[in-house]
Amino acid sequence: MNTGEEVGEFTQIFSALVSLMRKFIFRVLCAGPIPTHISFIMDGNRRFAKKYNLTGLDAGHRAGFVSVTYVLQYCKEIGVPYVTLYAFGIDNFKRGPEEVKCIMDLMLEKVELTIDQALTGNLNGVRIIFAGDLNSLNERFRAATQKLMELTEENKDLIVVVCVAYSTSQEIVHSIRESCMRKCKTGDGPVVLEVSDVEECMYTSAVPDPDLVIRTGGGDRLSNFMTWQTSRSLLHRTEALWPELGLWHLVWAILKFQRMQGYLQKKKKLD
Ligand code: IPE
Ligand code: MG
Repeated sequence: MNTGEEVGEFTQIFSALVSLMRKFIFRVLCAGPIPTHISFIMDGNRRFAKKYNLTGLDAGHRAGFVSVTYVLQYCKEIGVPYVTLYAFGIDNFKRGPEEVKCIMDLMLEKVELTIDQALTGNLNGVRIIFAGDLNSLNERFRAATQKLMELTEENKDLIVVVCVAYSTSQEIVHSIRESCMRKCKTGDGPVVLEVSDVEECMYTSAVPDPDLVIRTGGGDRLSNFMTWQTSRSLLHRTEALWPELGLWHLVWAILKFQRMQGYLQKKKKLD
């Protein structure tokens, strides 16, 4: 056997061992309650690029996409049914035009790649929903998001909500407008809105409220992300930059969620 083959065999054995160990960790973790919905505020891509001397405007964001793939895989293996990713906030449009274009191009590239995966049956039961002011995206991007949503509509193993051009303020305004229009169509008296009417028309109405919000990059803010939906969620922050988020950070956050169950349940009852 030559050295190349030996290295290949060793890599195979090593990755099989790692995957076995991960399965074991997840099995132990599943002895406790698992969050139904985890939301991620993905922060720290540019600091990651700076920290590791990566060049190019999109270097940190590219690394961030690798992290997305791993985190979604882990969530699926653990059995978390819903995941939300804060990919691009409305405020992020205030960044330099070059960076905005760079992030948009990168996201479009990933969406189109995911469409190919969906068409070739390689998406393994993952449903993708885009949430946000999709009308503010360019035509090609908007069409791609629509196509991916339609292609994955029937998938049920993991539901991933990708928030693009998103802010809760805009989501609420959109939802109020939409519910007013619906009510105007059905009656001639003054429009009276209930909380449930607004909730029904939110971009994120297809998924339950998050149980756990994980913010990377050391920030302590919600940054206009699902502020309506997270009044009862547990917020976990980590200093790890988004591209650095690994298995142990996720396991640690879920262990914290399990430790805090008594407190979270008590709060739910008192509301
Ligand atoms: C998050 O990382 C990604 C987006 C908001 C698109 P940042 O780009 O905010 O990276 P930092 O926080 O400046 O390091
Ligand atoms: Mg940031």
